[in-house]
Amino acid sequence: MTSLVLIGFMGAGKTTISKKLAARLDQPVIDMDDYLVQQLGCSIEQYFATFGEAAFRDHETTLLKTILQKKAVIATGGGVVLQKENQELLKQQQVIYLKGEADILIERIRQDQTNIRPLALKNSDTKLREIMWEREKIYKSLAKITIDTSKKSPDEIITEIIKWVENNDENWVSRS
Ligand code: S3P
Repeated sequence: MTSLVLIGFMGAGKTTISKKLAARLDQPVIDMDDYLVQQLGCSIEQYFATFGEAAFRDHETTLLKTILQKKAVIATGGGVVLQKENQELLKQQQVIYLKGEADILIERIRQDQTNIRPLALKNSDTKLREIMWEREKIYKSLAKITIDTSKKSPDEIITEIIKWVENNDENWVSRS
């Protein structure tokens, strides 16, 4: 049983799209970052500052393994694709890459005061662009479908995903 897993850089809209998509498909949604904040008992920013990125990545992998045991729509954190172990797990899922323009994503990340991203705090815009560029290859290699979100509304993105799912995974199609 596969899950629909949304991947992509910070600010790409994974959380928003996952919630709406799960509602349209009448399936559970799991937001990995939200889950981790609850598990860790502090914000991701605080966790990075106290225990470092490697410790966070370990928690992320453990959580990914657990949640993939059930069918769900999953919003990942942008860095989940970095661990080889996670890549192997993701290859077995219906992975959807939400791709956005660097300038738009960086502006969104910088303006978001409720979800402070540690990587955005410690890196310049130029460096963030570099990180995005490096990750792009991994996102693409894992994705079964890439959706360019730059000029699309959430509803348009969701419609595109649902069409794709209907044509590609009978477990996700309601034939009633
Ligand atoms: C990260 C992305 C964040 C969060 C953490 C690390 C990354 O999630 O998991 O700050 O390395 O790209 P979002 O992609 O939901 O912002």
